[in-house]
Amino acid sequence: MAAVALRALSEELGSARAALSLVVLRSALPRPVARWTDLCAQAADLRKTTGGALPPWPLPRTVRGELWRSLFDEDPRDVCAAAEELRAMALGARGRRSAGLYYTPPDLAARIVDLALLQGSSQHPRRVLDPCAGAGAFLREAARRVGASACAGADLDAFALRAARAALALCDPSGRPLLRRLDSLRASPVADADLLVSNPPYGHLDDPAERAFLAGALPALRGGEIDRYAGFLLRSVQLVVPGGTAALLVPDTWMTNARASALRTAMLDSAEIAAVADLGKPFLAAKDTRVQAVVLVRRRTPRGRPTRVYRGRTQLAPVPERELRQKAAGGWQIYRSRGERRLCAAIESVSVPLSEVCEVGYGLRTGNNARFVARRPAREGEIALCGGEDVLPYSLRLRPKALCEPTSALRALALRQIGKERIAVQRIRTNSRKPWARWLEAAPVPASIACLDSLSTLACDDGDRLGALLAILQSVPLQRWHRLRTTDVNVKPSALRELPVPRALLDPAAARTLSDLSRKRAADDSHDRVIDACAYRLFRLPPPLVEEAEREFWGPIFPERFHALQEECRTLPLA
Ligand SMILES: C[S@@+](CC[C@H](N)C(=O)[O-])C[C@H]1O[C@@H](n2cnc3c(N)ncnc32)[C@H](O)[C@@H]1O
Repeated sequence: MAAVALRALSEELGSARAALSLVVLRSALPRPVARWTDLCAQAADLRKTTGGALPPWPLPRTVRGELWRSLFDEDPRDVCAAAEELRAMALGARGRRSAGLYYTPPDLAARIVDLALLQGSSQHPRRVLDPCAGAGAFLREAARRVGASACAGADLDAFALRAARAALALCDPSGRPLLRRLDSLRASPVADADLLVSNPPYGHLDDPAERAFLAGALPALRGGEIDRYAGFLLRSVQLVVPGGTAALLVPDTWMTNARASALRTAMLDSAEIAAVADLGKPFLAAKDTRVQAVVLVRRRTPRGRPTRVYRGRTQLAPVPERELRQKAAGGWQIYRSRGERRLCAAIESVSVPLSEVCEVGYGLRTGNNARFVARRPAREGEIALCGGEDVLPYSLRLRPKALCEPTSALRALALRQIGKERIAVQRIRTNSRKPWARWLEAAPVPASIACLDSLSTLACDDGDRLGALLAILQSVPLQRWHRLRTTDVNVKPSALRELPVPRALLDPAAARTLSDLSRKRAADDSHDRVIDACAYRLFRLPPPLVEEAEREFWGPIFPERFHALQEECRTLPLA
């Protein structure tokens, strides 16, 4: 039998409130009842004994259909998830985005609370605060560990708070949590929180007045766009007592974004970054958002312990605070095992940045593709275009496009690319679960075609070097380094300038060999492994580090792909 749809249930009962109350009653009552009036009577009694927590609203006196009965034939549902679904229906996609309303799956909330207790300052917090409590996914996990009376929460959304109160009452009926409707950027329901856990809202802050307020209250946010989660990162440390812990589920972009350097420094000044866990992209409703759990301990002393780092549940290499300080301006690349740290260091020690061996350019930004980009072959006098959709590894598969009636400034900009062969590099934001999915793909572009801004471009006068760069860029060691340097959500064009190019490639003979291979690869992908073998040699990686690069890159197909590489290493023409 199909599960009762919450939309249909709320239509039948006349409101989302009534639907959520029914979902809560399904969890709270031991047995189904025969008549609606009996259910209403039981609900009223329960509200009395639970101080109005269960169910969150009184039921309507009458009901039309029979869906309410069907709900009692099902297993109880997760109240937090049901509240999210009902709220999302009411707000629509845009309203939901602007409220930052994406609740947290219970296992993720549990993971963050456990990490906070394990790596924060106290295993027995006396007061737990969620300043953006939503429907209570985090507080419920905290209540399971320390009891609901130790829990306090705030939110702007009254519906969500009622759901949170119900979720807490279901897991700890005698607990008395403190829940308040307030703006946590300006106030707090408690002054004694020694643990804060939260999934704050994400996304840019659009309201100019709110931006001005936050830039004044939290100066590290100044300069450029303000991400709401960044405001809550800073604010969360203020909301716990000195020595207290704040654990947040946030996007990880603040660690690597060039423009977040002031934020990184301010976070380090105010808190020890006790632990960070890369949690991938767990939100179905926001599938491009890569998130992390970050555990912060409000400073009492200037020196902190190394940051413990995880990829999922796998522990990686700890990062000394000294290193975070040194690299606060450029960004923190912390998701690395000890082997991966050695791999990156070895690659960097024999390399120069890409920007030193060729010109790294931005593709053409038209400002209005609907107006300036025609989807047809270029006519006489027009400039042909290509974009990300046209790039395959090592070759273009053009879907014809032309620059159509450009302004003179736009035409001049496009003409700057014309006349020289370049490499087009596509920075890929991928949700692929295959570990070997590439985050950079590149193809040579003829001198007559301009690249749009979904691509970056590489150019240099030496054709062999350009051909060799095409291969190096797509080789496993470089792809591996790139992944460890950035997240796919944050593949900025500027990051390409720093890609490591082996100094050995500056030797014309080495460049010619690799360039020849790159030409052959365009017609036949069986050359991939020989290219990788060349790349490993140029990076001078010893066998254990080659294996290190390969193992994570290929994941389950490592044995087969590594064997193919070893075969190539035996027959490789390059000395
Ligand atoms: C991403 S949801 C997370 C909810 C909850 N932490 C959970 O995981 O179930 C963010 C919540 O923050 C609330 N919120 C946004 N801005 C806020 C503010 N300034 N003060 C308090 N709550 C806020 C929203 O109403 C929303 O419920």
